[in-house]
Amino acid sequence: MNSLRHTGVEMNPTMHGTPKPHQPHPAEQRGAVTLQHPAQCVLTYAKHPPPSNYRRLGSDPRRTHTRPCGDLPMTRQIKKRRMALLAAASTIALTSLLCMASNATTAAAEPASEILPIWREIFARPNLSEIPAPPTNPITPIKGILGAALFHDARLSGDNTRSCATCHDPERAFTDGRPRAAARDGKTQLSNTPPLHNLAWAKRFFWDGRARSLEQQARFPIEHPQELAGSWPQITARLAADSYMKSLFEAAFPENPVISSENITAALASHQRQLYSPVSRFDRFIAGEEHELTPQERHGFAIFVGKAGCVTCHNGWRFTDDRLHRTGLTPEAVKSPTLRDLKLTAPYMHDGSVPTLSGVIAHYQNLKPENLAVSPSLVRPLNLADNEKAALIAFLESID
Ligand code: HEC
Ligand code: HEC
Repeated sequence: MNSLRHTGVEMNPTMHGTPKPHQPHPAEQRGAVTLQHPAQCVLTYAKHPPPSNYRRLGSDPRRTHTRPCGDLPMTRQIKKRRMALLAAASTIALTSLLCMASNATTAAAEPASEILPIWREIFARPNLSEIPAPPTNPITPIKGILGAALFHDARLSGDNTRSCATCHDPERAFTDGRPRAAARDGKTQLSNTPPLHNLAWAKRFFWDGRARSLEQQARFPIEHPQELAGSWPQITARLAADSYMKSLFEAAFPENPVISSENITAALASHQRQLYSPVSRFDRFIAGEEHELTPQERHGFAIFVGKAGCVTCHNGWRFTDDRLHRTGLTPEAVKSPTLRDLKLTAPYMHDGSVPTLSGVIAHYQNLKPENLAVSPSLVRPLNLADNEKAALIAFLESID
């Protein structure tokens, strides 16, 4: 795992030839899903040289670790429990709003110990051997390899110059550091490029939530005249002329080994489902290791879930409710973005109009009640003191 300059994904060499015996999972016994044994499913980035037209990927070791995968839907009980917890969280957040209305302006320095266990459950990371995937496109290691190759392949663009990675740079949590993504004509206004971690758990995609699956989503940038401007007959013909690609499609889709738009988008989706944030100090804090966060960061967490009510929309381990809200930048509602990776994803907001986290907090602090383009839960004075703003920023940066 030292030489992590890579261009794709391959089976972890240490796994070759030593597959563990397959233990049937209870869900599998019920016939609900076909499961990969996690041991057969550990991926690591490849070290072999890339075909010349692949963009070179970055090498942040934290972001190129092994990834277990699998296909296990969340059980109904877990879903119900999460819903109940979120309801509890909303009540707590609401109570904090009411406290604000009655002029209680100081925030606790620590999250209250009696409700900390609730936050622990709400923000807990899921089991990564249970990455959700639709039954029509179960995750397999080889599909991940193909999807990673396609993600970096300029043959998906009309003029062979751009790939998904042109805008979604792995070194920046798959963003591009620009306020708005670069349109091909240099003038069309695209929006800010969002990060691509943890999307297997997302319910809708794009700032306006218009795509309902990653399979559906991938068609947009490929066909968009200002993004890749690709044409399917041209893309499939180019890939079919490449014997390495042909063999990857055969291995990834043994039942239907064609180079088609369906298989291309399925592989891209499968690759992206396997991109998730590494465990951070925040995750360890949530797992019970209290001192992983500094006192200032814990103070910021208390403000986030209490006085400032941020948790109303930014909740769960992905820090988003996956819903659309109006936050006063435009009359249209946009999807709550994740708050993971904030150190890598500036500038912020759907239009990239806010360069820093203190700018984002100033935006929330300055919202006026008469601004009708704002969700009701935001229309109230935040009254954060300077030390509270600093604590909130320190906390946001610790989420990672
Ligand atoms: C020109 C830059 C550009 C290229 C190329 C590009 N994207 Fe994007 N991507 C964006 C922007 C901008 C958005 C947000 C667009 C919106 O919401 O309307 C986005 C959104 C997304 C999302 C939704 C994320 C979320 O949280 O909702 C996914 C997934 C995604 N892109 C994957 C891809 C894939 C796969 C490719 C290649 C087939 C690709 N992108 C190519 C700029 C780009
Ligand atoms: C009513 C729901 C809601 C609440 C409450 C809320 N946010 Fe947001 N947040 C959003 C939405 C929606 C966006 C995207 C706005 C846009 O792009 O126009 C956003 C954007 C952000 C961003 C930018 C992220 C990025 O990658 O662009 C940050 C940081 C952020 N919020 C932090 C906070 C903090 C801190 C609080 C508490 C003070 C908070 N939010 C309260 C819904 C909310």
